[in-house]
This record gives sequence, structure tokens and C-alpha cells, in this order.
Amino acid sequence: MSKILITGGAGFIGSHLSRILLTSGHSVRILDNLSPQIHGALPQGLDWLMGDGVDFIRGSITDEAYVRTALQDVDSVVHLAAETGTGQSMYQIAHYNNVNVGGTALLLDILANDSARSVKRIVLASSRSIYGEGAYVCSRCDKQKRIYPNARIKSQLSAHRWEHACEACSSHLKPVPTREDDPAKPASIYAATKYAQEDLVRVACAAMDMDYTILRLQNVYGEGQSLNNPYTGILSIFSTRIRRKQHLPIFEDGLETRDFVHVQDVANAFLAAVEFQGNISQAINVGMGVKTTVAEIAGHLSDAFGVQHNLVTTHEYRLGDIRHNFADTHRLQCILGNTPQIDLNEGMLRFAEWVTKQVLSEDQLDKANAQLRTRNLMG
Ligand SMILES: NC(=O)c1ccc[n+]([C@@H]2O[C@H](COP(=O)([O-])OP(=O)(O)OC[C@H]3O[C@@H](n4cnc5c(N)ncnc54)[C@H](O)[C@@H]3O)[C@@H](O)[C@H]2O)c1
Repeated sequence: MSKILITGGAGFIGSHLSRILLTSGHSVRILDNLSPQIHGALPQGLDWLMGDGVDFIRGSITDEAYVRTALQDVDSVVHLAAETGTGQSMYQIAHYNNVNVGGTALLLDILANDSARSVKRIVLASSRSIYGEGAYVCSRCDKQKRIYPNARIKSQLSAHRWEHACEACSSHLKPVPTREDDPAKPASIYAATKYAQEDLVRVACAAMDMDYTILRLQNVYGEGQSLNNPYTGILSIFSTRIRRKQHLPIFEDGLETRDFVHVQDVANAFLAAVEFQGNISQAINVGMGVKTTVAEIAGHLSDAFGVQHNLVTTHEYRLGDIRHNFADTHRLQCILGNTPQIDLNEGMLRFAEWVTKQVLSEDQLDKANAQLRTRNLMG
């Protein structure tokens, strides 16, 4: 049995991971500030934080005294605490840097200066967003050559040129599964902070002779995801609108794709990383390895709620959004021995069933979009 510190453990992924760790016989300490953007002004449904096996500390990852206390006598750290909104990160740059990069630096600083540290492994929640647009090939020119397009710029998006084109022959590039050794090309401040977290963990852990695992998560969805946060989580935003009988606004042409992976599968990948015997010290993608268009996912979700599809393709766009990305999952399977089990149909039904039992949130999408528009980050 080990003692695991989960920073941000009261959140979506952390709550699932806590349960799985407890069931597997570990004890859990959580450091979380219960951010109002995630948990609402009066956090609810968090009684489990006071339950057996959980040691809950309410405090920020940026506050040295709390982080120092949280690190005492733990065997491993799962570092989840972060600000997570791609669009919001583009105008709250200092704040995202402070929490995501500064918080990670503080955690590592305390460990590096503690010669009696008990921590043997850090597992970092990183993101597929660090790849930016990810990997493509040109089916016409050379199917073997991997191409990594730059982030799409405003002139391209406002002309509705959604897809990446081959520089040589101008035909549309074809997305292929992104591998961990593909280059990082963050296209948003959020992504840049996640990549900075990776670098800090990689370099500091090597110097401390401490093992680390960087899990690059694709789009995680499922029961327990924040229904209050309008800045992230396409399925929670859509589910609120379905319950309010509003249409689902589909950005671009709806054919942009994501790799949706259920939170239970993600929590199992974290468990495998925590329990791994031996050294990992590398990045591992966590996803289904399947690409689904945003229009399709909106349809699946509507089906799961048993309502007619009411999708409106708006042709709007947000700077910092990528067009396609899906994971190469070989490392996940070969190193961690982990294969996601919950397919989209089952996952959507479980998510919709859970959502209908929750208090109906305000739909804050228009407010979030207005904030982007006033800053010229959305068109
Ligand atoms: N959910 C996804 O699709 C996804 C995809 C890629 C990566 N990730 C990463 O996984 C991690 C967890 O994401 P999640 O979906 O569970 O998010 P979440 O927002 O549900 O949970 C994050 C938790 O961190 C806490 N937190 C925020 N700021 C904090 C601070 N300053 N100090 C302490 N705690 C703080 C929040 O209160 C919340 O409980 C994040 O690092 C995120 O970047 C998530």
C-alpha cells in the first residue's frame, strides 16, 4: 500500500482516480483549492473528501506552506491541479502561467530541497494539446513523410479554410495518430503551460533521480465532469444546452475531430502508472486512438439523452483550437499494459444518465464566447 498525493484531486479526473486508488488499497491525500470556476461558489457533492482513507487539504498549488505540508510522507505524487480552459488561457496568460507552471515549479522546488523526501515518482497529467495540430501525411505527395502543420491563423480561419493543406500540392492533408516522439507545437497558452510542466518534471526528476510519467490525455469525458465551467468540456456544455432545449452550436464545419476517452479508462491509466514496477520516465498518450467529429459527438450525445438532433453549424472559430488530433496508443498498451475499455456508446449513456441527476447549470457558453469575441480571439 502506498500513500499518494493527488493535487487537484477533488476535480473530475482526481475524484475517479481517488476512488480507484482507495479500492486498490492505497491511501490518498488531496491538495485542492476547490476553485469556484470548477466547483461553483458553494462546492457540493464533495462529502467523499472527508471519507475513510482520504486526507483532504484545501489549499492552492501556488501556496508554499500547503504544498510543503501536502508532500510530507507520500510515496508518489499525481499532479492534476491546473487551470484548463484553452480559450480562457489566451487572455489570462499570467494566471495560467502562475498556476500551471508556477505551481509545478513550486512542487519540484520543495522536493529538490528536501534531502529526506519520501516521494519516489511523479505522474503528471499533460495534454494532447502540446502537439498542437499533431501529425499529418499528404496522400498525394508522400504517404510516409510525417508533416506537422503550424497553428491555423486568423486569415485562414476567417476564410473558412479549416483543413491543413499540403505546401507542395495544396491538397488536404490527412491526420494520422500522433506519437509521443512527434514534436511539440503548442497552439494555445494552456498548451504552452502544459508543455512547460512536462519540461520542468522531466529535467527536475532526472536531477533528483526520481521516476516520472507524463500522461498526455486526449479529450476526457464522463460522469463527474464540471458542469459549471463554460471554458472547457464540450460535452458538459452541450449537455446543459440539451437539457435547456437549446440548439447545439457546432464550430467550424463540424468535421473537426477529437479523440474522446472515458474518465474511468483515464483513471485506470493513472493507476497503472502509479503502481508500475520499475522506471518509466517518459511521456505516454492516453486516448482511444479513434477520431470522432464534433458533429458526430453532438449527435451521439443527443441520442444518449433521447432527444432529436438540434445541431447548428455556425462556422465560428476560436483561435488556439486545433483541427484534428488523435492518439497513437502503442506506448499505453505496451508500457502500461492499459487498453481503454469504454466505447463511445456506453460512455455517452453513462454520462447522460449521470447528468440528468445533477442540478441544471446555467448555460454560460454565450458569456464565455463574448469574452473571446471582445478580445478578437473568436470569429
Ligand atoms: N479533462 C480533460 O479532457 C483533460 C485533457 C487533457 C489534460 N487534462 C489535465 O488533467 C488535469 C485534471 O483535469 P480535470 O479535467 O480533472 O480538471 P478539473 O478542472 O475537473 O480539476 C482540476 C482540479 O484542480 C483544482 N485546482 C485548480 N486550481 C488549483 C490550484 N491553484 N491549487 C489547487 N487546486 C487547484 C480544481 O479545484 C479542480 O478540483 C489537468 O491538469 C488538466 O490539464 C485534462
